[in-house]
Amino acid sequence: MNKMTNILLGGLLMLSTLSANAAEAAKSIVVFFSHTGENYSVGVIQEGNTAKVAKEIARVTGADLWEIKEAEPYPVKYKPCIERAKKELQAKARPAFQGTAPDLSKYETVFLGYPNWWGEAPMVVYTFLEKAKTDGKAIYPFCTHEGSGLGSTARNLARAFPKAKIEQNGLAIYGHVAQKDADAVRKAVAEWLKGLALPKTASKGRVPTLKLNNGAEMPQFGIGTFNQGSDETCRRSVLAALRAGYRHIDTAHAYQDERGVGQAIREFCEESGVPRSEIWVTSKLWPTEYGEGVSAAAIDRMLKRLQLDYIDLLYVHQPAGDYLGAWKDMEKAVRQGKVRTLGVSDFDYDDHMLEDMVAAVAIKPAVLQIECHPYAQRLDIRKRAEKLGIQIETWFPLGGSGKGNQSLLNNEVVKDIAKSHGRTAVQVILRWHVQEGFSVIPGSKNPEHIKENIAIFDFELTDGDMERIRALNTESRYYIPRPEDLQRFLQFKPAE
Ligand SMILES: NC(=O)c1ccc[n+]([C@@H]2O[C@H](COP(=O)([O-])OP(=O)(O)OC[C@H]3O[C@@H](n4cnc5c(N)ncnc54)[C@H](OP(=O)(O)O)[C@@H]3O)[C@@H](O)[C@H]2O)c1
Ligand SMILES: Cc1cc2nc3c(=O)[nH]c(=O)nc-3n(C[C@H](O)[C@H](O)[C@H](O)COP(=O)(O)O)c2cc1C
Repeated sequence: MNKMTNILLGGLLMLSTLSANAAEAAKSIVVFFSHTGENYSVGVIQEGNTAKVAKEIARVTGADLWEIKEAEPYPVKYKPCIERAKKELQAKARPAFQGTAPDLSKYETVFLGYPNWWGEAPMVVYTFLEKAKTDGKAIYPFCTHEGSGLGSTARNLARAFPKAKIEQNGLAIYGHVAQKDADAVRKAVAEWLKGLALPKTASKGRVPTLKLNNGAEMPQFGIGTFNQGSDETCRRSVLAALRAGYRHIDTAHAYQDERGVGQAIREFCEESGVPRSEIWVTSKLWPTEYGEGVSAAAIDRMLKRLQLDYIDLLYVHQPAGDYLGAWKDMEKAVRQGKVRTLGVSDFDYDDHMLEDMVAAVAIKPAVLQIECHPYAQRLDIRKRAEKLGIQIETWFPLGGSGKGNQSLLNNEVVKDIAKSHGRTAVQVILRWHVQEGFSVIPGSKNPEHIKENIAIFDFELTDGDMERIRALNTESRYYIPRPEDLQRFLQFKPAE
C-alpha cells in the first residue's frame, strides 16, 4: 500500500483486480475511394484528400475502414487521370477494384467517401456498391471537392440504389482543406456527425458531454489517475486512454502524478494532431495549499507540473482548512484564464457544508465529486446538488481498488445483466453511472481495462436493468472521513 493510499483512504485493502474481456465489435464501416498523385489544387499528394476525412470519421466513430482501390491504377498525372475518368463516366463503366468487398451485412452503418468527379462518385465506387449488399443499408456519403460540394452525387447514388437508404445530408469538404487543415476536418466531421440520427452502435467512442452551470461542456466519461503510483505509470495509462478515445482526465496534486498526465497529453497531441483544447483536464488543490494568496501560487505550480496554460476544472480536494480563501484565488484564476471551471470534492461531510459553501462564494461550484457506486447511490446529496445546479462526478465508481471492487464486480445482479447484454460487469456498472447522468472517471493502469471501460457508448441498459441496480443501494460507502482525517489532511504536503 503506498503512502497516498494510506493518507487518502486510511486503510482500504488493495486486492488484485479481476480481468474481463472487452465485448466489443465495430458496427459501422467507412468505405472510401481516394486518388493519390497529382491533385487539382494541392500538387502531388501522398495521401488523398478523401482518405484524410475517412480516417477522421473512423477515428471518431470507432468504425472499421476499407479503401476501394481500383484494379488498374489511375495515372499519377492529373491530365491522363481525368481523361480516363471522363471516358469511364461517359460509358457508365464499372472498373474493377482490388480484393474482396467487405460483407456489409455485418455493419449497421456505412459511411461512404469519394472525391466529387463532375457531380458523380468515381465509377469504381458504383462497382463496389453493386457488388456489396446495400439493400436496406443506411449509407452516409461524404466527399471532398474543389468547389462543387456534394453536388448531385448523393441524389445520383439514391437513384442508382433505391433499396439503400442514402442520407442526403452528406458531408462535403474542400480538398485542399482536407489535405492541409486537420483541425477544420475534425470540426466539420464532429458537426456533421452531431446532426445525423445515427444508430447508437455508430457512436462508439463518442462520449457525450454534460453542460455545466457555467456553460462549459465536459465529456461525461474520463480516466481517474488516483493510485497510478508514479508519473511514468500514469503517463502510460493516460496515453493509452487518449489513444482509446478518452478526452477527460481527472488528476490531483495529491496523486503526485500530474507530470505524467501533462507528458501524456503533450505526446498524444503531437502524435495525433488533436489539439489540447479537445482534452478536458481536471486537477485538485490539497488543503495545505489553501488560502488567499497561497492558492494562486499553487495554481501556477500546478500548471507547470501539468505543462499546460489552463486547467479545465479545478477542485478544492477536501473540505478541510481555508477552502474559502483558496476559492477566492481560484475565482481570480478563472478571471485570468488559468482555470475554466471550479468544483468541490468531498463536500458531503455533513448535511449543510455544500449549501454553506455555495452561499459564501461568487463563482458557484459547477461539479461535486463524491464517492458513488451501486452500493452507495448517494440519493440525499444528489438531490441537494441538483437543487443547486451542480453536476455530480463519481469517484470509486467501481468500488475502488480494494474489497469494494471485488464485491461489485462479482455481484450476481450485475453479472446477470452483463450476461444479457454480452458485456462485462465493469461495463454494466459504468453504463449505470452514465445513464444516471453522472460524470464518471474510472481508474486503471491496465490498457485492456482502459479500452474496455470506454466501450460503453454502443449499448443501453433497459429501465428494468437500471431498477435492478438501483435496488442494490444500501448507502454503504467505502470511505467516510472522520474529523481526525480532516485534521490529518492538513499535515500532508504533496511533493512538488
Ligand atoms: N475526490 C476524491 O476524494 C477521490 C477519491 C478517490 C478517487 N477519486 C478519483 O476517482 C477515480 C476513480 O476511483 P478509483 O480509481 O480509486 O477507483 P475505481 O475507478 O472505482 O476502481 C479502480 C480499480 O478498478 C480496476 N479496474 C478498472 N477497470 C477495470 C476493468 N475493466 N476490469 C477489472 N478491473 C478494473 C482497477 O484496476 P486496473 O488498474 O487493474 O485496471 C482499479 O483497481 C480516481 O482515479 C480518482 O481520479 C477521487
Ligand atoms: C477526374 C476528376 C474530376 C474532378 N471533378 C471535379 C468537379 O467536378 N468538381 C469539383 O469540385 N472538384 C472536382 N475534382 C477535384 C476533386 O474532387 C478534389 O481534388 C478532391 O478533393 C480529390 O479527392 P481525393 O484526393 O480523395 O481523390 C475533380 C478531380 C478529378 C481527378
